[in-house]
Amino acid sequence: MKENEVIWGDALDILGTIAENTADMIYLDPPFCTQEKQRMVSSKNSKEYIFDDTWKDMDDYLYYMKKRLVQCRRVLKETGSIFVHCDRNASHYLKVLMDKIFGISNFQSEIIWSYKRWSNSKKGLLNNHQVILFYSKTSQFKFNRIYTEYSETTNIDQILQERARNKNGKAVYKYNADGEIVIGQSKKGVPLSDVWEIPYLNPKAKERVGYPTQKPILLLEQILRLVTDEGDFIIDPFMGSGTTVVAAKMLNRKYLGIDISPDAVALANKRLESLIKTESFLLKKGKKAYRNLSDSQMDILKHFNAVPVQRNSGIDGFLKEYIDGKPISIKIQKEDETLGDALKKMIKSGASKNCCFMILIRTHIDYQQMFPRKDIPENIIVIDSYEVQNELILEKLHCQYCITKNSQTVG
Ligand SMILES: C[S@@+](CC[C@H](N)C(=O)[O-])C[C@H]1O[C@@H](n2cnc3c(N)ncnc32)[C@H](O)[C@@H]1O
Repeated sequence: MKENEVIWGDALDILGTIAENTADMIYLDPPFCTQEKQRMVSSKNSKEYIFDDTWKDMDDYLYYMKKRLVQCRRVLKETGSIFVHCDRNASHYLKVLMDKIFGISNFQSEIIWSYKRWSNSKKGLLNNHQVILFYSKTSQFKFNRIYTEYSETTNIDQILQERARNKNGKAVYKYNADGEIVIGQSKKGVPLSDVWEIPYLNPKAKERVGYPTQKPILLLEQILRLVTDEGDFIIDPFMGSGTTVVAAKMLNRKYLGIDISPDAVALANKRLESLIKTESFLLKKGKKAYRNLSDSQMDILKHFNAVPVQRNSGIDGFLKEYIDGKPISIKIQKEDETLGDALKKMIKSGASKNCCFMILIRTHIDYQQMFPRKDIPENIIVIDSYEVQNELILEKLHCQYCITKNSQTVG
């Protein structure tokens, strides 16, 4: 077996050829026991990738997994760790199996990979997470601490002040003999938790290759950084499109990928030739970076019972109700937009989303550039914001007052 290669074959056979105590880390993303044939057509070359995930029953699946997990344990170094990716179909059974093979005391974490994906098709709760079981081979496992940002609700005392236990064992802030606060050691952030919010690859992601159940490189990078260093050796016995080996190469780790599908091996080799990774805007900039609607704009949308849309110049929201199966968009005129500009943007975006009606909220009156209502298409309704309505009412009252006063003077 050579390092830095991907091999076609059954994980059981290939692992069997590897010497014991060889790998620093094993990540496996095997079939999940979905009882379905997983298939997907890649967008670029229209090739269909398929792998079978159908089993006689759960015992059949667990027997198959057990044989391969036992081999994984054998080839892991004493300082090594294994990550078993699974989901609601069999995670509970696999955990019991892993406890038996690796020992309960070597269970480290049940990592919840959480992401947002929408679907209205199913009755019940939306399934927005998968499970990664993290076991070490021994208690001497390698572990690199990763720190994350403090949450917005963390206050300055929580960050700076040293803590101590009071006589009831409760954590309290520490004070010295003079009653002054004791400043703790410099902090690196909050240790990474077992809930990981990493976006699922969206259909347009650069790194997406059209392989069924392809995982994001960002997820594998986090696992690799946690338990391996540069030069360490990583095995993925169910490699699929090669996400693990690509991440390993990017982070200067040595790797071996195995897959029973020749198509998967060809695809992984191709990905290894030109490393492509999709950066997550969400992770880099945070959720707030997606919000461009102000509180007052959000209030307007709330009054319309509308679903807000961020980062679209022609649509700020959609009414929750459709007409004839078609959506109704709302746009709120921006401060620096004329009514004409706002209308143009709204019509363009609305047409591309097949909107039957569009609502434009006028937020200011542009006395230089009045827009004749007759020029507005019939499927567009322009509504004045409360501010504009106030301004118009006041204007009307002023006029009324002047007329009355003038008529009194003349009289
Ligand atoms: C869930 S996919 C892996 C997806 C991968 N993590 C990715 O990001 O593309 C599971 C893979 O296991 C492979 N597989 C199934 N049984 C196998 C076996 N006995 N040995 C090796 N690979 C196997 C399938 O061909 C499939 O590519």
